[in-house]
Amino acid sequence: MLSRLPASSLQSLRLSANAHSSSLLTTTVRNVSRVRYVSSNSGASSGAKSFLDSRVTLASATLFAVGSVAWYTHLYGSLPFFGEVHANSPAEEGLHPQPYPWSHNGLFDSFDHASIRRGYQVYREVCAACHSLDRIAWRNLVGVSHTADEGKALAEEVEYEDGPNDQGEMFQRPGKLSDYMPPPYPNEEAARAGNGGALPPDLSLIVKARHGGPDYIFSLLTGYVDPPAGFEIREGMNYNPYFPGNAISMARVLFDGLVEYDDGTPATTSQMAKDVTTFLNWASEPEHDERKKAGLKAVILFSALTAISLYIKRFKWSVIKSRKIIYNPPADKTHH
Ligand code: HEC
Repeated sequence: MLSRLPASSLQSLRLSANAHSSSLLTTTVRNVSRVRYVSSNSGASSGAKSFLDSRVTLASATLFAVGSVAWYTHLYGSLPFFGEVHANSPAEEGLHPQPYPWSHNGLFDSFDHASIRRGYQVYREVCAACHSLDRIAWRNLVGVSHTADEGKALAEEVEYEDGPNDQGEMFQRPGKLSDYMPPPYPNEEAARAGNGGALPPDLSLIVKARHGGPDYIFSLLTGYVDPPAGFEIREGMNYNPYFPGNAISMARVLFDGLVEYDDGTPATTSQMAKDVTTFLNWASEPEHDERKKAGLKAVILFSALTAISLYIKRFKWSVIKSRKIIYNPPADKTHH
């Protein structure tokens, strides 16, 4: 209400309030202080008040605090709370990967599907020797990186055990689109035995399973360097600053020209690392493109609905907002 009044009227209101109510104000203040005075002096709390105010209490509380800190420090050899906070060194955590400008980073960006296709080739020719990709079936590649015919041809290159047949025997048959990617080892023990005791993890969800996602995978694959002077590394381990602990069982696997891409892209180490990371990113988030498309649809739909509802609101309210209420007093008939 007040805000609708012109500023000058507000000012005069305040002025008149000051002039007229100063006596009223002082009475209120006095009343309040008297009420406080009465309550703080009431019998039971007066003892507590003087106890809380006293210097002895202050001194003993300080002594108690200092004493307990000293005692704790004596017992455990470190200050309480402070001793437990310690920064991790990059060696323990792994060097933080730098953020890379992935072409699918943006809110409206899809995967680079040519890169997924090249990445599949790198996975098949290099990583699949040690890493499984359990959650991806051949049919998943169809429409993403390969045509249906290509997918069938890829599946048929692999023999799967099936059965039993009429004689009750298991048999081998070529793969179908519905088969899942074959694992390199029959079981975990075999995988460990083949890798000096370390288990090559399944790569289906690795991009989501690691802090840093694709940036980490790319950095890991391209980050192999000589260990710095003084860094002890066990036989069979490899130095990689991005891996937590810095010593990883997987040796550097990507070298320039390792694969030959059919689209003619030069197969440098970083190109292959980028492609295989994009492929693994797709494997972890196969719904990625659809998800962003659905998000875009939702934004379009909801903004249209908002615009329509704003229009309807203005339309419906226009009658009320623009009406004028006029009071016409009935003509006084007594004078006539
Ligand atoms: C010769 C076998 C071998 C090959 C080939 C191989 N890896 Fe590995 N990989 C391993 C082993 C063993 C580990 C486990 C390392 C460890 O825990 O110390 C591993 C671990 C990993 C990890 C997990 C690191 C972590 O943070 O835990 C990723 C990611 C990975 N490999 C990606 C790849 C990719 C991508 C390729 C193909 C370009 C590949 N690997 C090729 C053996 C291999």
